[in-house]
Amino acid sequence: MKNVLQKRARLAGLFVGVSLSAAGFGQQAGPLYLDPAQPVEARVEDLLKRLTLEEKVSLVHANSKFNSGGIPRLGVPELRMSDGPHGVREEIERDTWKPAGRTDDFASYLPVGMALAATWNTDLARIFGETLGREALARGKDVMLGPGLNIMRTPLCGRNFEYFGEDPFLTGRMGVAYIRGMQSQDAAACVKHFAANNQEWQRGSINVEMDERALREIYLPAFKAAVKEAGALTVMGAYNRFRGAHCCNNDVLLNTVLKGEWGFKGLVMSDWNGTHDTRESVFGGLDLEMGTNKPTGEFYMAEPFLEGLRKGEYPDSILDDKVRRNLHVLFTLKAVDGKKAGSMNTAENQNAARRTAEEGMVLLKNEGNTLPLKTEEIRTLAVIGGNATRKFARGGGSSGIKAFYEITPLEGIVQRVGAKVNVVYSEGYTPTGQGFPRINPAGMPPGTSGGTSGGTSGPQRTGPPGMGPEGTTLSWGGLQEAGPQKDSTLVERAVQAAEKADAVIVIAGLNHGRFLDAEGVDRRDMKLPYGQDELISRVAQANPRTAVVIVSGAPVEMDAWLDRVPAVLQAWYAGMEGGNALARILFGDVNPSGKLPCTFPARLEDSPAHALGAYPGKDGTVRYDEGLLVGYRWFDAKSIEPLFPFGHGLSYAGFAYSKLRLVRGNGNSGPLVEIRFEMENTGKTEGGETAQVYVQDMQSSLPRPVKELKGFQKVFLKPGEKTAVSIPLDRTAFSFFDPEKGGWLAEKGDFHIMIGSSSRDIRLQEKFKLRESCFETEGRKTIKAK
Ligand code: BGC
Repeated sequence: MKNVLQKRARLAGLFVGVSLSAAGFGQQAGPLYLDPAQPVEARVEDLLKRLTLEEKVSLVHANSKFNSGGIPRLGVPELRMSDGPHGVREEIERDTWKPAGRTDDFASYLPVGMALAATWNTDLARIFGETLGREALARGKDVMLGPGLNIMRTPLCGRNFEYFGEDPFLTGRMGVAYIRGMQSQDAAACVKHFAANNQEWQRGSINVEMDERALREIYLPAFKAAVKEAGALTVMGAYNRFRGAHCCNNDVLLNTVLKGEWGFKGLVMSDWNGTHDTRESVFGGLDLEMGTNKPTGEFYMAEPFLEGLRKGEYPDSILDDKVRRNLHVLFTLKAVDGKKAGSMNTAENQNAARRTAEEGMVLLKNEGNTLPLKTEEIRTLAVIGGNATRKFARGGGSSGIKAFYEITPLEGIVQRVGAKVNVVYSEGYTPTGQGFPRINPAGMPPGTSGGTSGGTSGPQRTGPPGMGPEGTTLSWGGLQEAGPQKDSTLVERAVQAAEKADAVIVIAGLNHGRFLDAEGVDRRDMKLPYGQDELISRVAQANPRTAVVIVSGAPVEMDAWLDRVPAVLQAWYAGMEGGNALARILFGDVNPSGKLPCTFPARLEDSPAHALGAYPGKDGTVRYDEGLLVGYRWFDAKSIEPLFPFGHGLSYAGFAYSKLRLVRGNGNSGPLVEIRFEMENTGKTEGGETAQVYVQDMQSSLPRPVKELKGFQKVFLKPGEKTAVSIPLDRTAFSFFDPEKGGWLAEKGDFHIMIGSSSRDIRLQEKFKLRESCFETEGRKTIKAK
């Protein structure tokens, strides 16, 4: 330890004449802030007082595309950041968006957020975070720009694939585990995009209006858990506005809620080019300005801030607070002390990718045990569909990765079946559109055709990373737009291949092309592009033994063919091991155990924001008229049958639930109630099942959703095996946000506790009486309400 310390201090040229007995270094004492044995806050204070005004200001804005300023004079390194949520991004030049052209910037491509959420496995989320953390370190990064914890409000949001679905509780649990895993490696998570960033359309300017309960109960809880439970070190403000003010300088969100109520100690950075004004940013809670499309010195929180400070327009204390937060992150990450080495693309990291892919795939339908396929029954297997051979790592926008490798579905299948089965591939359709949609930040309004300009409203006129000035595009992959066009010759060829085969697998879905699963734009509808509906229908007609695999980051419409197809598997974007994982599921080496983290509506109009015409907003504002009724909460309230409900996912095994018992706790030192029951694997295959606990408030002073997810547990059982499950519920499982009282109220009375295999497949239920009401203000301790 002493050696490392001395080396670093020597590098910084610090040993001349500095003596500090408190550091306990013996004779060669260095400054306290360089002593790893000192508490972080003491180190922060010690360094703070050594900084000049100019140095302080240099810490609160970027000095390259992905680095914040360091203080070379004092041996303080830059904070090095990288996208993103499912892998460490390719290196770009320091001051441009051009790839740096290096050969050492590959990374493991893990499954996307929606796939991870579909595992419902918090242990795996922790492993996922650890894996990213190890790779971040190996690539010399301090902060990873993820996870994205925005709630899926509409199936159309272009970035749904990066997020964890529609439910705040699931998003929170998975997010907390991911962040803990990542930060255990001394890599900081950056939870984004705070907050209410639920569409890409006009993302740079759209103003979001929603009621307080929707904010507190739906859109904030996952962020709150990330901060309060996982100790997320950094938070990224969103591009959009919330109640009038941009989220990167939103006093309510950043000062009142995040830093005030939740006690956040870390730093708030802007989304790239999400800063708009010096004064608003300084007072609005921003601690680090990133990605502004200006020369560094002209950043809002660079020279203009310094000048303001010199003129006395801003108190020094406000700068000191921002600097403290930046230094807090730096020291907590051991950025000054020397960090672990990390690792890239190891067997451990590959396993994490494969397990997540396997556990995240969701078996939506499986009539007549069509799946798993048995190689001994198949001589010729037709694999059909453009997504069978497509790679996805680089796509989607800022989350794109230069992957070490990526096993496509076709490669995975061919490798799995070996010489035993003759695999015939037929493309069926040609996907167009790849890469990042380089358009203005506001995105294109749904319903308009291609083009690279227009669609902007609101004050923001320059774009996020890689985007040129308004209306121009830069070169990062093709820009073709996905259309409904089909190629009849390809369809005919696919039908012929299907006719001659013993079984067919169609690998269909979306891709990261423009207006599909892509940053900066939303989808325009929920349909499969390129005439895939017709392709699937025709293929299924030609061969009834057809299984459809959907590769997408969000729900797609299946009405046109679902009845004709016996098996459907939702595979998401499954990362570099995706093809192997898929093959292992299709051929039964792995039993599917994923569950949907979002409702799959039969048609877009069934989902709340669309039913109410509350998307994409008018005149620069989108009003969340559905309030609390997001996702299954809406489908339940309106008794709408979804195509596949939230929490749905089949297995090759079967699971029986029995013997529900509610064991009351005291609620102070432990849970209010333990939900205990038994689960048994009644099938012939080993498998995993996620038991879901939903809570319904039987009477309450304010309207509440019909039921809400408040607990879950994934268990793995051998055939015939039985296990006892216990899921604790605390007060938060019963409470709602009371806007008048400004806090969380659990009202005494009856609640229904429902245990389900999905939100629409409730297996056990029991009444629970809450004997005493309980009220808790944000950030303060519980007060009993009499
Ligand atoms: C995205 C962020 C990303 C940042 C840096 C922005 O466009 O919204 O999610 O981390 O760019 O690439």
